Amino acid sequence: MRTQIAAANWKMNLTFQQGEKLLDQILAAKIKMKDHQKTIFAVPFPYLTMARSEVAEEKNYYVAAQNCNHRKSGAFTGEISAEMLHSLNITYCIIGHSERRQYFFETNTMLAEKINLCIENFITPIFCCGEALAIRESGTQNEFVAQQLKESLFHLPAEQIKQIVVAYEPIWAIGTGKTATTEQAQEMHEYLRSIIAGQYNKDIANEVPILYGGSVKANNARELFTCPDVDGGLVGGASLVGQDFVEIMRSLK
Ligand code: 13P
Repeated sequence: MRTQIAAANWKMNLTFQQGEKLLDQILAAKIKMKDHQKTIFAVPFPYLTMARSEVAEEKNYYVAAQNCNHRKSGAFTGEISAEMLHSLNITYCIIGHSERRQYFFETNTMLAEKINLCIENFITPIFCCGEALAIRESGTQNEFVAQQLKESLFHLPAEQIKQIVVAYEPIWAIGTGKTATTEQAQEMHEYLRSIIAGQYNKDIANEVPILYGGSVKANNARELFTCPDVDGGLVGGASLVGQDFVEIMRSLK
């Protein structure tokens, strides 16, 4: 079975102590990940090492950064490079979250550079795509996300695209409590897989995990994850509540 992933995105929330406590609480639930399942915690930069040692003994539990810079290194005060993440043994990084696109003006081209740097540094990018409400209402969401993938991912050779995790996060569903319906999620995930198949081939497309993000909660995760092309979730708000995230982990196929 394709890899199924429960990914927590803490965003800019929780103090160090609160984060540590939350991880302790989640680990205390002793959820065993099956071979094809993974749990990933995307935590703020200063908590990466703490989170990594928290999960060190757990099978298929990983830590992700929420971003990295699109340049290799240099005079960019306050920025964090993919190489720095690699030097901390961090193996996942969220790339192109809609909040970064919106508030930090990240473009598809810049994201392609980040993707390359992640791969060079043995980091699996969790590449986010998704449309705003106006685009959904105009019915052009497929073209919009296709462009995002084309400009940020489709320069990769087949061997590398297999290493990517894609997260479909419709902006109108993020933090709004308005989840995409299972039909909307399945339809878009199937479409994303079909364009990956078109660019590469069907076998490769079948290997790429595609996560859904946008108001995933303890009470809707199972239904969303049942969709054949939804391979888990990228979870914001509900990942900050131990019991809720544990329930989401339990909901993986
Ligand atoms: P919410 O789960 O809070 O809607 O956030 C989703 C998200 O942006 C995860 O990256």
